[in-house]
Parts: sequence; C-alpha cells; structure tokens
Amino acid sequence: MMSTLKTPQTGTGELLLSLRGVSKHFGAVSALIDVDLDVHAGEVVALVGDNGAGKSTLVKILAGVHRADAGTMTFGGREVTVSDPRESLALGIATVYQDLALCENLDVVANLFLGQEVNPLRLDEVEMETRAWTLLRELSARIPSVRTAVASLSGGQRQTVAIARSLLLDPQVIILDEPTAALGVAQTAEVLNLIERVRARGHGVIMISHNMEDVRAVANRIVVLRLGRNNGLFDANASAEELVGAITGAADNAVTRRSARRSASTETEAPS
Ligand SMILES: Nc1ncnc2c1ncn2[C@@H]1O[C@H](COP(=O)(O)OP(=O)(O)O)[C@@H](O)[C@H]1O
Ligand SMILES: [Mg+2]
Repeated sequence: MMSTLKTPQTGTGELLLSLRGVSKHFGAVSALIDVDLDVHAGEVVALVGDNGAGKSTLVKILAGVHRADAGTMTFGGREVTVSDPRESLALGIATVYQDLALCENLDVVANLFLGQEVNPLRLDEVEMETRAWTLLRELSARIPSVRTAVASLSGGQRQTVAIARSLLLDPQVIILDEPTAALGVAQTAEVLNLIERVRARGHGVIMISHNMEDVRAVANRIVVLRLGRNNGLFDANASAEELVGAITGAADNAVTRRSARRSASTETEAPS
C-alpha cells in the first residue's frame, strides 16, 4: 500500500526523527537528492534500495560521519545539526555498522563496554558483568556466557552483542546496517526476533536490508531509495513485486503509475 511522501506519517509512537529534503554530493556524484525520512518510537523502518541507491550515505549523515549539503534534520521536535559521530550518539542515535567493530579476542562483557562512550560511569568488572547479563536477558539474547570470547560466537550472536552494545546508552533511534546479511536461516530468525524486542522497548529502528523477506517480516514501514531519491513508501503488506518494482524502477509498477498520473494532472493544470 502506498502513502504520499511529504505528509506526516502516523506511526505507533511519537515522531522521533525527521529528515526533509536531504541532499549529498560527492564531487559530481549525487548520492542523495531531496530525501525525506521519518522514524517514530516503537517502529521498524526498513531502508531498501539497490547498490549505490544512497542507503549508506543516508545512514552516515544520521550518524554524523557525513554532513548533508542541503535539507533539515529534526530530532525530538527540534531542528539539529550533527557534525560528528559523538554528537549523533549524544542526541540519542546509535549506529551498528555491518562490520560490527567487535574485538574477537575479548569476551562479551568487554565488548559491550568497549570504548569510553559506553562506559561513562566507569563501572567495575562486577557491575559491568551484571549490566551485561541484565541487558542480554531483557533482550532474551541467546548468548551462552558473557565471559565467552566473541571469536567463538556465531554470526547471529555477534550481531546480538553489537545491538546490545548500541543499547547501553539508551538511544531513541538505533540504525542497523544489513543486520541479517551473511546469516543463515536460524540466525536470521534470531536477529529478527531481537529487532522486534528492541522495537517493543520503544526504540525507533532503521534497518537497512537487501532481503525482502526479512524486511516484510519485521518492518512497519519500508522506505525505498533509488538513485539517491525517495522512490516509494510502503507498509508491511507491500508485495515483493511492488518493492522490487520500486527498487529497480521497473517500467510498470505502482510508483511509476502513480507519478505518471501525478505529472499528467500537473500538465493539465499548468497554463498552456
Ligand atoms: N565517500 C564517497 N565518495 C565518493 N562517492 C561516494 C562515497 N560514498 C558513496 N558514494 C557514492 O554515492 C552513491 C551512493 O552510495 P551508497 O550510499 O554507498 O549506496 P548504498 O549504500 O545504497 O549502496 C554511489 O554512487 C557511491 O558510489
Ligand atoms: Mg551501502
């Protein structure tokens, strides 16, 4: 089902984050052109699109890695600028990149509290272990022991540790870049369940994915980017065909039919 871009979306919770008219160029390359995005509390927004569509660039703008050339970002009702990753984190946006940035030789507790940002209280070992257990239990995470080295965890368990780590500072919005890429069926199911539990805690989740099955299983809304532009906004009932049509820009799909209708009516209205 399509809804119109540029109108406020009604989600399950309050509007947390809004981008309007965001553009980003790298030299002659237009990575993003006039992109809009809304994220509400307690919803999963899937960001989909072909390679080069602009998904990573959009995430990096939210994460403070890149600065947009144009457009606005509103967070918690006020307009903000995010000039570096620290500012993004401080606002309440946590990003889990595809490489996860975990230390193989360290155990789960050490990885959860790695870096100063996630240990502002300078917790001692016992407190860290307790908090690690509490959080993982809350998330019903299947980790055998918090003293297991990350090297011996499965792909799904690693993703779980990375997601749990991003939740330690209690962000309002959490961004997951391809959380199920390279996972088998059972591990994918485990991670999708985890994403549902993260949503149930009231966070707004942005999930990048190439897998239409995963997207339709977990997303409340699906935002399609194509060649750097918004190219469709769908709910979870969208068919795989509709999604693929919007992603690839196939000649005959709901998006192109709609925009064809729209430009036809604009032409009739325009003075000749
Ligand atoms: N740092 C960069 N320098 C130059 N071009 C870039 C850079 N990052 C992304 N691009 C270009 O911007 C476009 C969008 O890329 P990206 O956001 O990575 O897409 P996606 O994540 O959807 O595959 C591509 O054409 C890509 O080559
Ligand atoms: Mg990418």
